[in-house]
Amino acid sequence: MGKGSGYGKVILFGEHFVVHGVPGIVSAIDSTTDAEVKKTGEGIAVRDERKTAKGYSEEKRLQQLESIDRMLKAMGIDPKTPLSIWIGGTLPGFSGLGASAASSVAIARAIAQELGMNVPDEKINQVAYEAEKAYAGNPSGIDNTAATYGGLMWFQKNMSGGTDFVEKVKTPKQVEIVIGSTGKVANTKAMVAGVAERKRQNPQKYDPLFKRAEEIAIEGRKALEAGDLKKVGALMNENHTLLQEIEVSSRELDLLVDIARKQGAYGAKLTGGGGGGCIFALTPGKELQEKVAKAIEAQGFEVLRTMIGVQKL
Ligand code: PMV
Repeated sequence: MGKGSGYGKVILFGEHFVVHGVPGIVSAIDSTTDAEVKKTGEGIAVRDERKTAKGYSEEKRLQQLESIDRMLKAMGIDPKTPLSIWIGGTLPGFSGLGASAASSVAIARAIAQELGMNVPDEKINQVAYEAEKAYAGNPSGIDNTAATYGGLMWFQKNMSGGTDFVEKVKTPKQVEIVIGSTGKVANTKAMVAGVAERKRQNPQKYDPLFKRAEEIAIEGRKALEAGDLKKVGALMNENHTLLQEIEVSSRELDLLVDIARKQGAYGAKLTGGGGGGCIFALTPGKELQEKVAKAIEAQGFEVLRTMIGVQKL
């Protein structure tokens, strides 16, 4: 049997903006999707045992099959190869945590191991990027990069189709965060397409927002490297405002962000595609993390207590 894992992620700065070439900062979190693959049975069979938001697996099933098909093509494997695939792990299937990319990385690694192929991380990352197209349409590549390598990363998409610019960001230590899920499954593909369309129609409004997103990423990187978490939090808050302005936040996301800030989180913002999915709050120290997590749970939402800056695979 072949085994593999991929990290979940939160985007600290720049979701949506990264699709258009603005730099962003992403961090792997201390939760992974794990896969096991056996060359057996007939065709592709998937047993998905991840903890998910209601309706997540059903909503994503067709995209999942398409993603596996794309993955096999990218790895040069005969699509008729019988593969029995199990997916599980600690990363919940909430929208916005890069669960699709984490599962693609996990499955690609497990397939490679089962078929005795030696596939370096760089290739795994490319394969997962191809697989992500099934879920995201026009993905930036930020999710599969975080899922493959882990850690905290500066990411800038190469808009001419060449290699993306990826650099590790050094931060003094791992930091506690709380992820709050709206429980709503979001359609990343539609959210990404919506931003692109509005940007095209209204450049006077969108261009300055994109400019500010770039500055936030640059300032955010400096603050992370200096370990200035108050500043990181303030920039996260401002990034959330930009995401509201490009119309990817929602009533529930704004509510969760509000609860977290009122409980003393250093900053809170939606993470990922928006329109549903998740927020994350920067909550250094176990005590603050617990306080924010409990307040969100008290309003009936699910949370994940985890860390950013993690690299251990
Ligand atoms: O919602 P997620 O976890 O798939 O994150 C999407 C991030 C976007 O910036 C909206 C899209 C992308 O491909 O970068």
